[in-house]
Amino acid sequence: MSAVFIALEGGEGCGKSTQARLLAAAIDAVATFEPGDTPAGRRLRDLLLSPDTGALDARTEALLMAADRAQHVAEVVRPALAAGRHVVTDRYVGSSMAYQGAGRGLPVAEVRALSAWATGGLWPDLTVLLDVPTALAAARLGVERDRFESEGDHFHERVAEGFRSLAATAPEPWVVIDGARPVDEVAASVRVVVRERLQLTM
Ligand code: TYD
Repeated sequence: MSAVFIALEGGEGCGKSTQARLLAAAIDAVATFEPGDTPAGRRLRDLLLSPDTGALDARTEALLMAADRAQHVAEVVRPALAAGRHVVTDRYVGSSMAYQGAGRGLPVAEVRALSAWATGGLWPDLTVLLDVPTALAAARLGVERDRFESEGDHFHERVAEGFRSLAATAPEPWVVIDGARPVDEVAASVRVVVRERLQLTM
């Protein structure tokens, strides 16, 4: 069986980090995330998330996310896949299209093209969107907020809508899972779709 590449997507507080970890354990995959899962990426993540950074132009933000992704793909994702390991990433291109595209207002097709260039055209075999009502997701956030978490409700609504529209229209395979359920139930649903869509045994 050849190695598969799966991305988990969703807004903040949707539980995707927990689900990415559980799925990776279930299929013995390399678990990784964006932004920031390389040495250079950690510095980019700090710049991108720290409230100290202040205002970033939307294009600057998109380029920094794409730079992090290029490094992540080159240093982590491609080597793991080449070694025959499955890879589960917590966020990928979908996040840029939803946040920098739908959220910040950049043309989604341009953001997609930027990521296509940054990754050398590496798309996930499956993207799993954990859909959670924005009010519930907001209630799960802590008091300390990063640059994205401190954006208002309208921004997060646009991001959520952006994700739903990507799941419905993207040329690559996406699946939407109701994330507003207990962790175990969501994890079971994720395993079912992965097993069915990618013919993985677990
Ligand atoms: P993450 O650490 O996954 O935050 P959380 O655990 O809250 O989901 O991601 C950090 C933030 O970066 C998150 O608010 C979404 C944002 N982001 C983008 O705006 N564009 C991107 O391409 C990526 C990967 C993340």
